[in-house]
Amino acid sequence: MKKSITVIPGDGIGPEVTQQTVRVLDAVALRYEHEFEYTYCLMGAIAIDQTGSPLPVETIDACLGSDAILFGAIGDPKYDNDPSAKVRPEQGLLGLRKALQLYANIRPVTTYPAVQHLSPLKDAQTNGVDFIIFRELTGGIYFGHKNLSEDGTLASDECVYTRAEIERIAHPAFKLAQQRRKKLTLVDKANVLETSRLWRKVVKEVALQYPDVTIDFLFVDNAAMQIILNPKQFDVVLTENMFGDILSDEASVISGSLGLLPSASIGNGTALFEPIHGSYPQAAGKDIANPIGSILSAAMLLEHLGMTTEATAVRQAVEWALENNFVTKDIDPVNFYFTSTIGELIADHISNKFPQALHKDNIELRKSTII
Ligand code: IPM
Ligand code: MG
Repeated sequence: MKKSITVIPGDGIGPEVTQQTVRVLDAVALRYEHEFEYTYCLMGAIAIDQTGSPLPVETIDACLGSDAILFGAIGDPKYDNDPSAKVRPEQGLLGLRKALQLYANIRPVTTYPAVQHLSPLKDAQTNGVDFIIFRELTGGIYFGHKNLSEDGTLASDECVYTRAEIERIAHPAFKLAQQRRKKLTLVDKANVLETSRLWRKVVKEVALQYPDVTIDFLFVDNAAMQIILNPKQFDVVLTENMFGDILSDEASVISGSLGLLPSASIGNGTALFEPIHGSYPQAAGKDIANPIGSILSAAMLLEHLGMTTEATAVRQAVEWALENNFVTKDIDPVNFYFTSTIGELIADHISNKFPQALHKDNIELRKSTII
């Protein structure tokens, strides 16, 4: 297959991890006889520095015209610490989500036996955790009217949802639950918020079309607690924009490293794939960031394009790397490999360059990057 992919490396560690993912995609293309054509675009702080805008119009055009988008990370401390900044890197990502109507953000939360010891939770809680957060991405308080009074003493952010916005994300969430353990949990704050009461009403109606899916409801404060107490109870978690933002970061620690988790944002147009970690500016340029979140996002990208065998090959290569302790500094601060080495090893595994029974010593000799 021939596919065009818009690559947006973004800020901080985004470019380094994305570079390794492109390397992995190249290995997939070679092995399975595909052709991936990449168009590199700017977004975020780097785009502000180079063009004045966090989301240049060329970036939107390239995304609209491609089959998928691979995105790195966004954000720069020089904007985080300046509340008066009018232009912010994050506006790029929010603008792109809106422009492409990427209304559903899908974040799988799984555990890997090889890194489970890093989880702050005990094994009894983390064993077998496997759920997916389905976060609404283009509505709610993120996109409602914002106001700061002239004297700067009063601010407001409006939270708005329409029935149509809730319906369009509820359907794919129920369909996904049907393919899994057939359980959907709606997280809201219906005891306080009007928008949450609308979510509950609409989701209950949509549920009638999916009688094989069991549905339950949790208030967001309770959900935050349940994710730590008993994460195994969840299958598909459906929630609005800001609750999903907060809960997905919370849930990410279950797996042991934020650096491992991928995400997909889908909607009417081109879908976007990105690791859930941020731009981690302290690590930028040091070749120490974990590229696996980005590489697993590429697995989701391949699946989205119908390349399921290829996606499985990427996931197997990642598991192989973790099982053999080919890991970055976030996972093993003493014996770690560089970002670029991990990318190379995973790409080589996909290219079948390693025999099945492989001696770790060979790789250490061959790479000579062990610290
Ligand atoms: C995320 C991020 C973004 C969000 C930021 C960078 C705007 O935290 O993708 O979860 O809040 O949606
Ligand atoms: Mg977030």
